[in-house]
Amino acid sequence: MPIYFNKDIQEFHLQSEKLSYIFNILKNDQLGHLYFGKRLRHRESFSHLYTSIEKANIACVFEGDLSFSLDTTKQEYPSYGTTDFREPAYQISQENGSRISNFIYKDHRIYKGKSKLERLPATYVEQENEAATLEISLYDDVIDAEIILCYTIYEKISVITRSAKFMNHGRENLNLTRAMSMSIDFFDSDFEIIHLSGGWARERHVKTRKLETGIQSISSARGTSSSQQNPFLALKRPETTEHQGEVYGFSLVYSGNFLAQAEVDYYSVSRIMMGIHPFDFNWLLESGESFQTPEVVMVFSDQGLNGMSQIYHSLYRTRLARGNWRDKERPILINNWEGTYFDFNDEKILEMASAAKELGVELFVLDDGWFGRRDDDTTSLGDWFADKRKMPNGIKGLAEKINDLGLLFGLWFEPEMVSKMSELYNAHPDWIIQVPNRRLSHGRNQYVLDFSRSDVVDYIFDMMSKVLCDTSISYVKWDMNRYMTEIGSRTLAADRQREVAHRYILGVYDLYDRLTSEFPDILFESCASGGCRFDPGMLYYAPQAWASDNTDAVERLKIQYGTSFVYPVSSIGAHVSAVPNHQVGRITSLETRANVAFFGTFGYELDVTKMSVEEKQIVKEQTNFYKKHRKLLQTGTFYRLHSPFDKDGNVTSWMVVSENQKEALVGRYQVLAKPNSGYERLLLKGLHNELEYEIEGMNGSFYGDELMNAGIQLDQVIPGLLQWGDFTSQIFKLMCRSK
Ligand code: DGJ
Repeated sequence: MPIYFNKDIQEFHLQSEKLSYIFNILKNDQLGHLYFGKRLRHRESFSHLYTSIEKANIACVFEGDLSFSLDTTKQEYPSYGTTDFREPAYQISQENGSRISNFIYKDHRIYKGKSKLERLPATYVEQENEAATLEISLYDDVIDAEIILCYTIYEKISVITRSAKFMNHGRENLNLTRAMSMSIDFFDSDFEIIHLSGGWARERHVKTRKLETGIQSISSARGTSSSQQNPFLALKRPETTEHQGEVYGFSLVYSGNFLAQAEVDYYSVSRIMMGIHPFDFNWLLESGESFQTPEVVMVFSDQGLNGMSQIYHSLYRTRLARGNWRDKERPILINNWEGTYFDFNDEKILEMASAAKELGVELFVLDDGWFGRRDDDTTSLGDWFADKRKMPNGIKGLAEKINDLGLLFGLWFEPEMVSKMSELYNAHPDWIIQVPNRRLSHGRNQYVLDFSRSDVVDYIFDMMSKVLCDTSISYVKWDMNRYMTEIGSRTLAADRQREVAHRYILGVYDLYDRLTSEFPDILFESCASGGCRFDPGMLYYAPQAWASDNTDAVERLKIQYGTSFVYPVSSIGAHVSAVPNHQVGRITSLETRANVAFFGTFGYELDVTKMSVEEKQIVKEQTNFYKKHRKLLQTGTFYRLHSPFDKDGNVTSWMVVSENQKEALVGRYQVLAKPNSGYERLLLKGLHNELEYEIEGMNGSFYGDELMNAGIQLDQVIPGLLQWGDFTSQIFKLMCRSK
């Protein structure tokens, strides 16, 4: 997979099986952007793609030359203040007050494979020849500083990753006031912008709007990536659909404050940039220091939104997620949270666990409330030792009993937080994020530990390791239940206070790194009040994430559908809970609740001991079904068929297809029953044209091309489809007919 550099005309061409990315060195030795999109054959020059508009009233770089202005030049990593009036990718404030810099091309290196990012999560390769990397060094001789722009292109997956590293080789202190991970100037703005927005319990809803002149952005300044906006943005052509047309995706591998921005200028050029939010950010680069930005994963697909999502799924499932659990089938779990909340003891837990075991569950997860003296959310965070009132034999004693039942055991932690009523807070009141002489806000009665400090991270590591070493624990749920306020750290100097939010995330990554290395057999699931930190950064350490505190099946359709824009099914924690649902009060059938949760890492979150005999029988069937099909569900290719975000939105459907295209599972969900509705044909996707499929429970067979082009009439396939009642659903299985 070539990365070409044409020395004579100073052009780079990154080319893989399906995409090309082309840029050049400009007249002023900065970098210009030429093309990103479908693969182009390589040629000696792409200089015809360079366009610039000559205008008398424009600010120009060189004296006597009216033809060169950065205002009208498409660029790779634009700087501030030298004829370009759009927002720059970076800005460096210098000791003399100047914010002007001039980083020009110095040299580059090309190598096979991909390097790790210092202290940050990133995509990776397993074999050198899966990807190639280009590192371009840009140098500013006035301040003796360097920027390394890093590009990796994957051969088989249509992805380019980008990041930047700033290095201060000089003597003066530099202040990085803005350091985006990437920037790109598209030659037009005929796009719609898509992002995943929401709030607690309604995370990652799909929003689409036309790209317009001016700046439009999504961001988080909450200290985490947030449920309000996900660190993802896509640009699609207006005619692009789920399955056809061009789309570009940008996804930031980061879990803290971020900005994703599109700026359309007066010539309709669209500048897209993404990275750490410059708001309330400043990084002091002392002599000899460097700063590494997080990575952006850029995807191009001409196969519509589904095509884009499948690229992200494949990369994130196999080359972002890591560890022993990455490729393993995930266990069916039961979590006691909605079943008991804080009100449990080991007798109750064992009763639930043994009932769950009977029903086919494989892992019992003990949620919040097992430590310190925590009977509600006002106390004990930080005291990671068992509450002997509830568990006289400690966590170890309980875990052993659960293991004896034949179940794995998992445990909840909220490592980044502390309650004022706790031993930890009493001993170290100065360990929280805070600003001197200012009132401290709380969230859920809790405070954020200052993870920018290594002594705090070390302490939590020791406490958690002790529990994890003592006990046979197979799974950890890592929760995080509030956003950051009054951001400040006691140990950092005044001129480094704006580093706290990023240093905090580095501390979180450090703890994750140490725990996942020390306990490689533990399956980590990330969580933040449900899905408030569902991002690629987390996925690097924890291959699955609790998608939302909202467990209502109907609400989950939107949440899981939106989440699937970027994240694979294997990462989406999804549980069956009790009805009336605890978040919205809706009553849906046990079948529908499971039919939605099957398209995620499946589990239960209710008190199984309260279920009727009939319900238990249904659960047994569900766990059998999931065990039989989980490989397909967790690793198959995912297709969205009908969107809950469509105008009507009454029907959602999706499917997974096995890699060899011989098996598929289709899920169809209907919110409200409609009287006397017309015919409904479902056009399937991803099957093999030539293969003959049978649909389980139905006579006859169909070729893949029929199912995908003529579709199937659902009421004929699914007996009773037009049944009474709201919130109905069906799952049907396709198998290739053996000859
Ligand atoms: C928020 C999580 O999303 C829930 O699943 C549960 O773990 C609670 N926190 C416990 O406090």
